[in-house]
Amino acid sequence: MAKTICLLPGDGIGPEILAQGRLVLEAVGRKFGLDFRFTDGLIGGAAIAATGKALPRESLELAQNSDAIYFGAVGDPRFDANPPDKRPERGILEIRKALGLFANLRPSLLWPELASACLLRADTAQKGIDLLIVRELTGDIYFGQPRGIAEENGLRLAFNTMRYDESEIRRIARLGFELAQKRKRRLCSVDKSNVLECSRLWRTVVAEVARDYPDIALSNMYVDNAAMQLVRDPSQFDVLLTSNLFGDILSDEAAAITGSLGMQPSASLGTTGPGLFEPIHGSAPDIAGTDKANPLGTILSGAMLLEQGLGLSEAARAVEEAVRATLAAGFRTPDILGTGGPGLLPVGCREMGAEVLKRI
Ligand code: IPM
Ligand code: MG
Repeated sequence: MAKTICLLPGDGIGPEILAQGRLVLEAVGRKFGLDFRFTDGLIGGAAIAATGKALPRESLELAQNSDAIYFGAVGDPRFDANPPDKRPERGILEIRKALGLFANLRPSLLWPELASACLLRADTAQKGIDLLIVRELTGDIYFGQPRGIAEENGLRLAFNTMRYDESEIRRIARLGFELAQKRKRRLCSVDKSNVLECSRLWRTVVAEVARDYPDIALSNMYVDNAAMQLVRDPSQFDVLLTSNLFGDILSDEAAAITGSLGMQPSASLGTTGPGLFEPIHGSAPDIAGTDKANPLGTILSGAMLLEQGLGLSEAARAVEEAVRATLAAGFRTPDILGTGGPGLLPVGCREMGAEVLKRI
């Protein structure tokens, strides 16, 4: 049966990396006899420039009518001075909310082939990094009302609202525990319950949910400590369960320590409907159009799309194996070149994509 994949390239390096991701999906489709149809929509700054809106209705409809959404990146300095509701980032926030994509899965893996690009001390890196951040994605201070900018006693003032109800916490916690059951059965819930009411509720509800998962070892950690532990010894973590804001921050950190933000994929899932698959990095406007971007985070997001979006595990493995073989052969975009070395072959975005393609 045909599967429709909605492409939303977005801004900056988004179109370059997603073009490579699409080629890889097409190759996998040919290999496994799968019928993929692609649709293409505007989002982010590209959509603001063309339509005035970061998420035009047509793009949302294309996404809703697809089996999976394949996303590049949003963010464009041309719109930096715009208010939050007219910025490119609004596009991704709105589509997450509109499709009920409450769960964001962000694996962080230190590829053995890239061990020399790891930012941590060799003895720490040696212990390995293989963790999964399960980030709540449709609540928290990102969406809480009231929010705004005002003036009080002649002073400019801004405010946001951190907010969670127990059902939002429960559903992401359940998913976190279920994912931990498929991994090393350890779940660390991140909060700031020494200061924030939201976090106190978070910790209470997570403890309630934990009763249904006696096979999972639950721990709790304050977010500041978690940020520190991630660089001190990331091997201690299996699943990290976080709210939206904390997960946003910690997932960049967890990705960067493995060598490059450019390597890490993500999946955003709801209860029903299509999931959205995107690399965790941003639009990198400084290198857009220069063929320097690393397409592997996008290509690996394609593997998550195949596996979690379309239930095609074998095809997903083929993509991951092709990436592994490409790295083993020495190909490196600038972000994962490290200090270079014998046998390493510097390539750009297109060539990296082509090398993966050859190995599908
Ligand atoms: C991410 C990004 C987004 C977020 C931005 C672009 C709104 O940083 O996916 O991590 O904060 O969620
Ligand atoms: Mg982020």
